[in-house]
Amino acid sequence: MVSTFIIDHIPSIIVQQVNMARLLSLYFPILIFVGLLHGQMRLVSSEPHVPCYFIFGDSLVDSGNNNILNTTAKVNYLPYGIDFPEGPTGRFTNGRTAADIIGQFLGFVKFIPPYVNATDQEISTGVNYGSGGAGIREESGRHLGDRISFPRQLLNHVTTISRISALHGNKTFTAEYLKKCIYLANIGSNDYVSNYFIPTLYSTSNIYTVDKYAVVLAEQYREQLTKLYNLGARKIVVFGLSQLGCIPAAIAAIGTNGKPCVDSINDAANLFNNRLKPLVDELNNDHFDAKFTFINLTSILAPEGDVPTSNVHCCLTQPGQCIPNSIPCPVRGLSTFYDDLHPTEVVNTVVATRSYIALSNMDASPYDISHLARL
Ligand SMILES: *[C@@H]1O[C@H](CO)[C@@H](O)[C@H](O)[C@H]1NC(C)=O
Ligand SMILES: *[C@@H]1O[C@H](CO)[C@@H](O)[C@H](O)[C@H]1NC(C)=O
Ligand SMILES: *[C@@H]1O[C@H](CO)[C@@H](O)[C@H](O)[C@H]1NC(C)=O
Ligand SMILES: *[C@@H]1O[C@H](CO)[C@@H](O)[C@H](O)[C@H]1NC(C)=O
Repeated sequence: MVSTFIIDHIPSIIVQQVNMARLLSLYFPILIFVGLLHGQMRLVSSEPHVPCYFIFGDSLVDSGNNNILNTTAKVNYLPYGIDFPEGPTGRFTNGRTAADIIGQFLGFVKFIPPYVNATDQEISTGVNYGSGGAGIREESGRHLGDRISFPRQLLNHVTTISRISALHGNKTFTAEYLKKCIYLANIGSNDYVSNYFIPTLYSTSNIYTVDKYAVVLAEQYREQLTKLYNLGARKIVVFGLSQLGCIPAAIAAIGTNGKPCVDSINDAANLFNNRLKPLVDELNNDHFDAKFTFINLTSILAPEGDVPTSNVHCCLTQPGQCIPNSIPCPVRGLSTFYDDLHPTEVVNTVVATRSYIALSNMDASPYDISHLARL
């Protein structure tokens, strides 16, 4: 099942490469050999491109960690997962998350398990720490209930490393091993939509101007990403924020004055993104033995400042999340949003495809994930 998905969703560039390689192989078997040496063909082989893949973030990547928490941000019920091979798992979308699809591009046959119940057998290939409602700041998402903030996800990673180290029985080997993994961080949206832009529940907008908030948030993120580096990560993918003012929940809560999206929220997200990209450059300069890369979701999803033509969510919402056991829209591929907050699998596929192989040099800088994996 999973492997058919891999085949279905291989970026067309790779399909072209593979087809070209097949054609050439009729005449020049040696070229295929060279191609294999350069790792060009490895997507269709069973070996992953990297030995391990660790995922950090919020509901955009959560794969079930919130299921056992006392929180309203919990979606282990239909119609979530209606298009996912295992049904509802706690993923906040109809099918796979972008992190899942990137894992498949990297060659992992099984989905990276959620931290909550990852077994010793599974942890060596990676763990997913994502938690719906979580933010860079500890308090973000508090009004939704329990969640695992990014600082606590890093503490969970310390535990995972101890477990892997015990399994390997050789600290040097473990350290070398962890350097080869891909680490993905997709967090920060809740520091805005579940914090700064709810002034009745959170004080941040009283304390900070929106510009100062971006500075403070980016500084905190810098410390956390440095901690990840200190825990042995050397290939780190940092996702920027999407146009948060275009999510249906933001539009419903604040209104748009006749515009397609809430400009004030988009502006805030852009202020943060404009800090984040230079931050990634600085981290690269400060740590010559590490490769950080920035993924620009605006470039991937709304390059001309376009907003999705349909911001209408696919499932019936209550509002926010889908109503349990409600019937979602029949053609999920035509909706940008699944519920009032989260993109559909088709959008996640675009994000995964273009962060894996960038189509514009804005999409991923300085490396797309396929390059990062090979470095
Ligand atoms: C879950 O959280 C709510 C709201 O904070 C609280 O009232 C309730 O007692 C909690 N339930 C459990 C089982 O801890
Ligand atoms: C982890 O828990 C989920 C449900 O919470 C279950 O579907 C899955 O099979 C569990 N995985 C393992 C490896 O125990
Ligand atoms: C531990 O791992 C390192 C690196 O792979 C290796 O060189 C060394 O021989 C190993 N030590 C033992 C005791 O196995
Ligand atoms: C992201 O891409 C958009 C569209 O190409 C561009 O306008 C914006 O400056 C980029 N943002 C960053 C932080 O690089």
